[in-house]
Amino acid sequence: ALVVGRRVRTRRKWKRVVGVLKELEESCETTVGRLRQVVDAMAVEMHAGLASEGGSKLKMLLTFVDNLPSGSEKGTFYGLDLGGTNFRVLRVELGGQRSSFDRDVAQQAIPPRLMTGRSEDLFDFIASSLQHLVEKGNDSEQSPIIKELGFTFSFPVKQTSVSSGILIKWTKGFAITDMVGKEVAGVLQQTLARKGLNMQVAVLVNNTVGTLALGHYHDADTVAAVIIGTGTNACYWERTDAIIKCQGLLTTSGGMVVNMEWGNFWSSHMPRTSYDIELDAESPNPNDQGFEKMISGMYLGDIVRRVILRMSQESDVFGPVFSSLSVPFALGTPLMAAMHEDDSPELTKVARILKDDLKIPDLPLKARKLVVKVCDVVARRAARLAAAGIVGILKKIGRDGSGCIRVGRTRSDTKMRRTVVAIEGSLYTQYTMFREYLHEALHEILGEDIAQHVILKVTEDGSGTGAALLAASHSSKSVDNVQ
Ligand code: GLC
Repeated sequence: ALVVGRRVRTRRKWKRVVGVLKELEESCETTVGRLRQVVDAMAVEMHAGLASEGGSKLKMLLTFVDNLPSGSEKGTFYGLDLGGTNFRVLRVELGGQRSSFDRDVAQQAIPPRLMTGRSEDLFDFIASSLQHLVEKGNDSEQSPIIKELGFTFSFPVKQTSVSSGILIKWTKGFAITDMVGKEVAGVLQQTLARKGLNMQVAVLVNNTVGTLALGHYHDADTVAAVIIGTGTNACYWERTDAIIKCQGLLTTSGGMVVNMEWGNFWSSHMPRTSYDIELDAESPNPNDQGFEKMISGMYLGDIVRRVILRMSQESDVFGPVFSSLSVPFALGTPLMAAMHEDDSPELTKVARILKDDLKIPDLPLKARKLVVKVCDVVARRAARLAAAGIVGILKKIGRDGSGCIRVGRTRSDTKMRRTVVAIEGSLYTQYTMFREYLHEALHEILGEDIAQHVILKVTEDGSGTGAALLAASHSSKSVDNVQ
C-alpha cells in the first residue's frame, strides 16, 4: 500500500509539472489567424505612428537618411557601433566599386558597469577604442585631414539631422540617466576632441539603418532591415509623402529611411503569459518594449527560467526549489538555445547546463525533456511574432502580395517584385531553431507563391559597416551621394 501511495503521489507531481507546460503552450499559441491579426495591427500602428507624433507606440522615427550607398563611394571611413552586448570599431576602405571594400574590425564586450554608470565613462571607453584602431592603422592620428565617422547608436533617438539626435530613452538594460535628452553625436564629438582625435561624426544612425545601408549596397532590392539580437527593431524605406507627421518634408530621392523602434510595438492579439507580465513588472522599463520582451535575446532565456522556476515550485520532481532559479537572467539565451538544440538521446548538454549554470543536479530525463519543450515553446512564439512583424512591414509597403497585379487566375501567376529584407542579430544568425520557425511562419502567413519573392538576407556586421558606408554617402567630401 505504501509503494502504491508513493506511485500515486509521484504521478500527481508529474501531472502538476506537465500542467504548467500545457498552460504555457496554450497561452503561447500563435495560430496563423492570430499572426495575421498581429500583421494587421503592425501595419495599422505604422500608419498611426507616421500620421502624428505620439500617434502610436511605434515611434516611426525619421532618420534623415534619404539616400542609400550606391556602391561608388570611395575613401577611408570609420564606423563605431554601440548598442548591444558588444561594441565594435571599424575602418572601411572603399574602392569605388560595389563589394570591393576592406575592413578592419575590433570588437569588445561592454563592461556591464559602464551600461549603468556615467555617460562620461562610457564615451571615454568608446573613444579610447577608436583611438586604438586609428593608431593601429597607418593613418597618422595627427593627419590634418579630418576622418569621417558613422556612429551607430542603437537606441531610440529623435534625429535633428542625419548627424545629430537626442536620446529619447534607454532600452536593453542600459540606464545612464544623465544621457537621456542629450544630443548623442555631440557628446561623442566632444569626447573625440578631448582625446585629440581629428574625427567628424558624419552620420548618427540606428543599427537597423546601418544594416539597411549595407544590404542595399549589396542588393538594390533591399527595402527593409530587421535586427533580432539582444534587442529587436526594424527600419524600412518610406515615401516622404506617406510621412504625414512631417508635411512638406522634401528629399531629392522622394523617400527616407524610417526607424520603427518596433521593440515597443504592442497588440492585444499577442499571446501574453503570466511570465511575460512578471518579467515586465520586474524590468527597469515596465510597460515599455513589449514586443522586444517577447522576442529578443535579452529576454527569452529569462522567460524560460521563470517557467522552470514555476515548475519547481509546483512539485519537487525538480528537487527542492533551487535558489539559482530565482536569480533574474541566470539563464542566458545562448544557453537556452544550446539546451533546445541538444539532440543527444540522453540530453547530456541539457543536464550539464542545468547542473553547471543553474545548479540543478541530477534532473531525470523526463524533466530534462520538459525543459527542452519549454525552450521550444518560448523560441517558437518569439520567432513567429517576429515573422508577423516582418509581414506587417511588407503589408504597409504593398509587398505582401495583397495588392499586386494578377495576370492570370491562379496565385502562381501573381506578379510580385523581388523583395529583400536585410537581417542581422545573434538570435537569427546563431539560433537555428529560431530561424527555422521564423521562416516557417513567414511562409504560413504569406503563402508559398508570395513568400518565394521575399528574401531574408543575412547582412553580417551591417550595423557598423553600414554606418561607415553612410558616412561615405553623406560625406561632405563625396560628390556622388545619390541613391
Ligand atoms: C532596441 C533599441 C533599438 C535597436 C534594437 C536592436 O530595441 O531601442 O534602437 O535597434 O534594440 O539592437
